[in-house]
Amino acid sequence: MTRHSSIGPIGVFDSGVGGLTVLRALRSVSPAENFIYLGDTARLPYGTKSAASVARYSLQCADALIQRGVRLLVVACNTASAAALDALRLHHPSMPVIGVIEPGARAAVAASVSQHIAVIATEGTTAGGAYQMAIQRLNPCARVTSLACSLFVSLAEEGWTEGPIAELVARRYLEPIFAQAGAPDTLVLGCTHFPALAAAIRAVLPRQVAIVDSAATTAAAVLEELGGAAGAAGVSGKVRWLATDGAARFARVGSAFLGETLRAESVESIDL
Ligand code: DGL
Repeated sequence: MTRHSSIGPIGVFDSGVGGLTVLRALRSVSPAENFIYLGDTARLPYGTKSAASVARYSLQCADALIQRGVRLLVVACNTASAAALDALRLHHPSMPVIGVIEPGARAAVAASVSQHIAVIATEGTTAGGAYQMAIQRLNPCARVTSLACSLFVSLAEEGWTEGPIAELVARRYLEPIFAQAGAPDTLVLGCTHFPALAAAIRAVLPRQVAIVDSAATTAAAVLEELGGAAGAAGVSGKVRWLATDGAARFARVGSAFLGETLRAESVESIDL
C-alpha cells in the first residue's frame, strides 16, 4: 500500500473540460489550494463508452495524478464516478477519493419534498444506475426517474447553452417527465456539462422543481475531507493543467466552463 502525503496538490480529473465546473467550485471554496487538473481529451466522451473502458481510463488518470504527488483525488466526471469509484478506492486504499455522485445524491434527497427525483446524465451514468442506488441508499423510499440527455454535452461544448435551440432540446427531453401527474419535484444535473445549460433547462421546467448541481456539493464534500480551507488568507493557489489531446481546444472550450481564460501554452500534453 502506498502512503500518501498530507501536503501536495489536489488532483481532479474528467474526460475533458466539463470537470472544470467542479474545479471552479473547488477553487471558490478553497482558493489557497494547489490543484492538478487532468482532462482525458484523447478518449472523450466517456458517456457513451462501456463501464469497463471508463473504469480502465479512470485508473490510468488516477495513476498519472498520483505520480505527480496529489494528496486527494476528485473524480469530477459523473460517468467516471459511476463506473470507477469503487475500483479507484480499491486500488488506492490510502488515498481519499471523492466522486460527484454521492454529494449530488445527498443534495437531491435534502432538496426534494416528494422524494420523487429525476436524474439526467450521460448514457453510461444512466445505464449503471449509480445515482438511483446512491439516492436509495439515503432514502430507500425515494423514487428515481433517470434519463440520458446526450445531446446536452454537444450543445454545451458548442456554446449553444441558451436560446431557442437549447430550450427546444431541453423541452424534448424533459417535457415527458415533468408534464405527467406525480412528476418529480427535483432534477439532478448528473453530468459535468449540464450546469452550463441550467438557464435553458430552468426555462422549460415547472417553477416548483428544484435543480441540483453536484459541483457545489462536491466542493463542500472535499472541504469537509480537508477539514476546512487550507493556506494563508489572500494567497491564491496554483493549477497545473494536463490534457491527453488538443491543448488548444482544451483551453478554448475549457475557458467557458472554468469562467476564466485558459491559455493553450499553459496546458501540458501527456500520454496515459
Ligand atoms: N464528463 C462527463 C460526465 O460528467 C460528460 C462528458 C463525457 O461524456 O465524457 O458524465
